[in-house]
Amino acid sequence: MVGRATRPTALASTPGLAPQPQVQFSDDNARVSAVLPTGESLEILLYGATVISWKDKNGDEKLWLSDAAKLDGSKAVRGGIPLVFPVFGTAPDHAATAQLPQHGFARTSRWEFLGKSTSESAPGQAADLSVKLDFGLSSPSLDSETQAKWPYAFNLIYSVTLSRESLTTSLVVTNDDDKPFDCQVLLHTYLRVKDITNVEITGLSSASYVDKVDGAKTKTQSSALTIAGETDRVYTPSTPPSDPVTVLEGGKTAFTVVRDNLSNVVVWNPWTDKAAGMADFAPKDGFKNMLCVEPGAVGTWQTLEPGDAFEGAQTIGIGY
Ligand code: BG6
Repeated sequence: MVGRATRPTALASTPGLAPQPQVQFSDDNARVSAVLPTGESLEILLYGATVISWKDKNGDEKLWLSDAAKLDGSKAVRGGIPLVFPVFGTAPDHAATAQLPQHGFARTSRWEFLGKSTSESAPGQAADLSVKLDFGLSSPSLDSETQAKWPYAFNLIYSVTLSRESLTTSLVVTNDDDKPFDCQVLLHTYLRVKDITNVEITGLSSASYVDKVDGAKTKTQSSALTIAGETDRVYTPSTPPSDPVTVLEGGKTAFTVVRDNLSNVVVWNPWTDKAAGMADFAPKDGFKNMLCVEPGAVGTWQTLEPGDAFEGAQTIGIGY
């Protein structure tokens, strides 16, 4: 389906039905966008299946995207929601993934658009309308260099669901091989904030974390988290994934992040020096307007036996 020369530019709704979400392709079919009749919208690159824009009904952007992000497939996107698979960071001591680049290959591979589905709880109730876009990536579609570095038969299905007040992204990994493989997954979400110095993150109190900017020491979060310098932490909350991690700005809820089957939350902000050192990070003071809250399964390896599947998801709710 992808790349079909005669693809319609819009998948139009059927006349007579209540207004439906619109799904469109652009940039030579390299981008998919969706708009709800109520105005919320979403934009996704097939490169990495990277969500690069999520706007609310007022057109306000909810994700941070670097002004210098490469959107042409030459580099992982700096911003939006890149997907991390099958390794978080690098794992030089884990033989099976040691050859892979930082954060794996899912964010730098071209995915296939599998289709859209819409739902509403009651006919004509636009308020409940949502649209789900599905993307797929499997071993045969990797370039030969990556296949050689990670020689496993796998299948990934990534679903992105836009609702009026939330965005859900869900990844299913299936082992199609006849041998087991280890993997890690992470949804590397760059949330847009107005002023990082005004942000407080709740829902992580009493969670243990690995502090990547302090020699990977294991610590315990004692209270709400504020960001006042480079922050790079891998949390393992003791509370259930359904308990939200909440991002407050000036005391008001800006985002709630609910996890499904993902036991970790990475919190990352590069602050001044790290941002200065990243060529694709712009503006250089953009760290003031972003906060990565990244649900994942990265503390250990998920070992998938032949035929087994692992599914993890996040739902990001917006506060007004
Ligand atoms: C975070 C990691 O998830 O991603 C950080 O915890 C890392 O250590 C950051 O710096 C960005 O990674 P990258 O590869 O996109 O520059």
